[in-house]
Amino acid sequence: MILTVKMQDKTLIYSHLYAWYESSKRILPWRETEDPYAIWLSEVILQQTRVAQGLDYYRRFLDHWPTVKALSEADEAEVLREWQGLGYYSRARNLHKAAQMIVESQKSKVESGAQQDYFFPKAFEEIRSLPGIGDYTAGAIASFAYNLPYPAMDGNVYRVVARLMDIDEPFDTTAGKKLFHQRIEDLLDKDHPRLFNSAIMEFGALYCTPVLGDACETCPLKDFCAAHAHGTADLLPIRKPRPKVRDRWFTYHIYLAPVTGNLSPITLIQRRENPKDIWYHLYEFPCEESVSESGLSTEWSLLCQAKPVCEISHVLSHQRIHARFLIHRVQEMPEIPGTLAIRWDELDNYALSRLTLKAISLIH
Ligand code: ADE
Repeated sequence: MILTVKMQDKTLIYSHLYAWYESSKRILPWRETEDPYAIWLSEVILQQTRVAQGLDYYRRFLDHWPTVKALSEADEAEVLREWQGLGYYSRARNLHKAAQMIVESQKSKVESGAQQDYFFPKAFEEIRSLPGIGDYTAGAIASFAYNLPYPAMDGNVYRVVARLMDIDEPFDTTAGKKLFHQRIEDLLDKDHPRLFNSAIMEFGALYCTPVLGDACETCPLKDFCAAHAHGTADLLPIRKPRPKVRDRWFTYHIYLAPVTGNLSPITLIQRRENPKDIWYHLYEFPCEESVSESGLSTEWSLLCQAKPVCEISHVLSHQRIHARFLIHRVQEMPEIPGTLAIRWDELDNYALSRLTLKAISLIH
């Protein structure tokens, strides 16, 4: 393992890295702006989302809510609906909450005229203290928007650093994170943090990828790469063992009652209300959870005459959901506490879990 990189090597690493970046980078809209609000939005969207999918959401969010003030005045339900399809909805809730906190903290100054308008904070600690913003996102905003010398270590950067310095410690433990942080602090180009962070992140995303093939042979950084010298690049980075995935079995009931005329039928939906469970505050069809695969567990299910219309396995980071969807064609809606009767063509107005969207598209 390499402990520190020599100054002379650092200078050469920067010049090779930046030359590669200038010739190979993608043109992305959040790289064309220094607006911290827009950069924050892009970073939160990209936390668990691929760039190609994130682009549309980024544009739509900015169109809809172009400033932190506008976002703070939005309805949470509307924000969740715009987020629909991206998953990990706590990101959207935190965006909204953080916008409200920023506006609240500046309100008296703006209203008294001491400050002209609401702005996204500049001090690293203040950025880092907002909900949904960890070290990575705070570093990305501080460096991309304000060119401040903070590292922004996403998964791509961990991989590049692990290989450059041949670090065989897991990067996703508390001790590992601290070690990697020290290494990147040392390597960071303090004179050009925006360029350095953008370039090393892009290099990990496009060149120094998990599966390398023969990329190392023509790599612009190979002369400085300890893993290349030791033949360990393909083995790095190391992760801690993954937690076991938990299986859950859900049965969803899709009630359909006809409406006179040619209108779309009525159905029932329900909002998930447990803040500690998945899909908090998202809507879905009435759901029964059973403890195992061997069937439905409540009396309600004994009444169920319907056949499954579709079965879906839906994998989340720590859970595997085995879902089946039953259609019940009824003349009158049953009374199920906590449900909401809406027309089928109104489903679009609610923030639905990705699993529910998948089922709707299969049933159609
Ligand atoms: N992934 C996370 N942040 C990114 C960024 N700023 N550019 C490209 N991909 C990213």
